[in-house]
Amino acid sequence: MPPNTSFSWIEARSRRFGVWRYIELLPLRNNIEPVTMCEGGTPLVKISRITQSQGAYVKLEGSNPTGSFKDRGMTIGLTIAKYIGVEGVVVASTGNTSASAAAYAARAGLKCVVVLPRGNVAKGKLAQALLYGAEILEVEGVFDNALERVLTDYVLKQKRNMYPLNSYNPWRLEGQKTIAFEIVDELGESPDFVIVPVGNAGNISAIWKGFKELYNYGLTSKLPRMIGVQAEKASPLVATWRSKTPYLIEVDDPSTVATAIKIGKPVNWLKAIRAVEESKGEFIAVSDNEILRAMRDLGRYEGVGLEPASAATLAGYKRALEEGIIRKDDVVVLIGTGNVLKDPDAVIAAINESKT
Ligand SMILES: Cc1ncc(COP(=O)(O)O)c(C=O)c1O
Repeated sequence: MPPNTSFSWIEARSRRFGVWRYIELLPLRNNIEPVTMCEGGTPLVKISRITQSQGAYVKLEGSNPTGSFKDRGMTIGLTIAKYIGVEGVVVASTGNTSASAAAYAARAGLKCVVVLPRGNVAKGKLAQALLYGAEILEVEGVFDNALERVLTDYVLKQKRNMYPLNSYNPWRLEGQKTIAFEIVDELGESPDFVIVPVGNAGNISAIWKGFKELYNYGLTSKLPRMIGVQAEKASPLVATWRSKTPYLIEVDDPSTVATAIKIGKPVNWLKAIRAVEESKGEFIAVSDNEILRAMRDLGRYEGVGLEPASAATLAGYKRALEEGIIRKDDVVVLIGTGNVLKDPDAVIAAINESKT
């Protein structure tokens, strides 16, 4: 990988035509000092042993400063928050958003309130939020209840001067679209498929936006098909996609080992449906057993450590092959959204999965 491939800031630089072309692909002005930790520039590695394909890759987003793709959005979100002069930021989270928001808030010198669903956050992520000094508020239920609390207590009542940074915040999605920029930069063009684990559905929408922008600027000659993967018992988008209803089919009591995508009412659902529709992609549901097996196999055969939500992409890849959506020789990028160290309990479950 060439050095300094980070596109996380201000301008995307294209090396495709042998020259540096500066195009404003990110929405900030140069005179604003960024809150940054050099996020982005993550490795894109082949996983040919496990897939028997020379075209299968995983983008290791766990290599970001706090161990997940969320840092790409938080660098922009916290820069804006600091610039507009708020007291702090507030997020509901399944864990990674809280870790990232807390770290970047600490760097910006701002307060950070995180609202978490009690008992539904992986240990590593909670530990990070505590380390970075976040104020933690736990609510009963799942992520959807935590987000409701942020909206009612902080956004509608404007309690304290706290800037909300969940993924309905457009600045975050602007940062996250840089995943697409890097993939095109590294492969030389768009892959045939991109497989993304889907929770609140911001990331799949952001990545699709990134590809479309590159395509519109002539920086890639084709667009990938986007595949969104959800856990079977937390799959509102799969249900909505299949039924073709114009409204979201919510899941009231989502359940999965992949806590990062344990969401029943994704805020960005419509954007995600559009991304999959426009790209002629698919939504796929996988079981917890498939997720744990994928997590174990990525570790055992590729030396790649992903948290369960991220490993769901490999389970989705296998399903897509079986169903004839993807072919063996297609170029496919799995978005490995978070680091395995985030969720030590899931590692034990994945290892035990090999005994079943
Ligand atoms: C590791 C990981 N993967 C996937 C997701 C889902 O991303 P999104 O909510 O943007 O769909 C999250 C969100 O928290 C995550 O932490």
